[in-house]
Amino acid sequence: MKHHLISAADLTRDDAVLILDTAEEMARVADRPIKKLPTLRGRTVVNLFYEDSTRTRISFEAAAKRLSADVINFSAKGSSVSKGESLKDTALTLEAMGADAVVIRHHASGAPYRLANSGWIDGSVVNAGDGTHEHPTQALLDAFTVRRRLVGRDAGMGRDLAGRRITIVGDVLHSRVARSNVLLLNTLGAQVTVVAPPTLVPIGVESWPCEVSYDLDAVLPKSDAVMMLRVQRERMNAAFFPTEREYARRYGLNGDRMARMPEHAVVMHPGPMNRGMEITAEVADSDRCTAVEQVANGVSIRMAVLYLLLGGNESAAAHTSRTDAVRTEETE
Ligand code: NCD
Repeated sequence: MKHHLISAADLTRDDAVLILDTAEEMARVADRPIKKLPTLRGRTVVNLFYEDSTRTRISFEAAAKRLSADVINFSAKGSSVSKGESLKDTALTLEAMGADAVVIRHHASGAPYRLANSGWIDGSVVNAGDGTHEHPTQALLDAFTVRRRLVGRDAGMGRDLAGRRITIVGDVLHSRVARSNVLLLNTLGAQVTVVAPPTLVPIGVESWPCEVSYDLDAVLPKSDAVMMLRVQRERMNAAFFPTEREYARRYGLNGDRMARMPEHAVVMHPGPMNRGMEITAEVADSDRCTAVEQVANGVSIRMAVLYLLLGGNESAAAHTSRTDAVRTEETE
């Protein structure tokens, strides 16, 4: 793996499988009464959040703490950023405090890339969502969730998603989750289809490694997983569809539509959900919807990413012996 995680395109198939496998190991920690490993003791992880977020920030915080790192939460609101401090000056401050990793969420696409390639900081940069660009750890936790559900927890180890058909539905234009997922799922061998109203399909989608469809009902019976995207009202500066009712009627997932999916197929949503818009309450609350599981899996994935970035580029085997060593250390 590289020193930073900015885009899902930074990951090879083997990198991605290693992260998913490591996350399975990390998930075992979450099943124990004491959910902590001493692996990143003495390391500092800074959560640098310029945009509102609940689950992603909490998830990175829980992940870093479960690995015993020191965590500093830096939110732009109430900090010198609101006094006009630049990203550069903030970065230099974090560097001076000895940040080993900076987890950054920013409203501007490209901010994490700038931070990673500026020479301002030596630590690893992890993109936790930048504008409408990418959100690679979300794609990883989604891939992890799909692998667990469709291949199996133990059976999935070492495996990718070859041949699985995954459909991503909704506001693809404004969705960093969609971009990262299309790239990562393709790297893992899945066949990806994006479904959206024509106004919410990005220009240049032809170059994405996926199919495009405007007909949700036609694609549902051929999907192993259906990922619903939140309609990103806060990023819409124009009318992209006539009314919310019209959107829900054509592109929302309701009970009738869910019944058209194969029996084994799952429904996913990165959250936060707009119930009644892209997903009905009936679907959101059904057993087939993995939204809550995705949140839990997010912690394991972020533990794996922080571990692999800060703990060195070990192979899966070396990793296993390291966690074994940790277990021994704990029992002694
Ligand atoms: C996503 C995000 O922020 O990009 N949510 C998240 O990470 N929990 C998706 C969204 O906001 O719709």
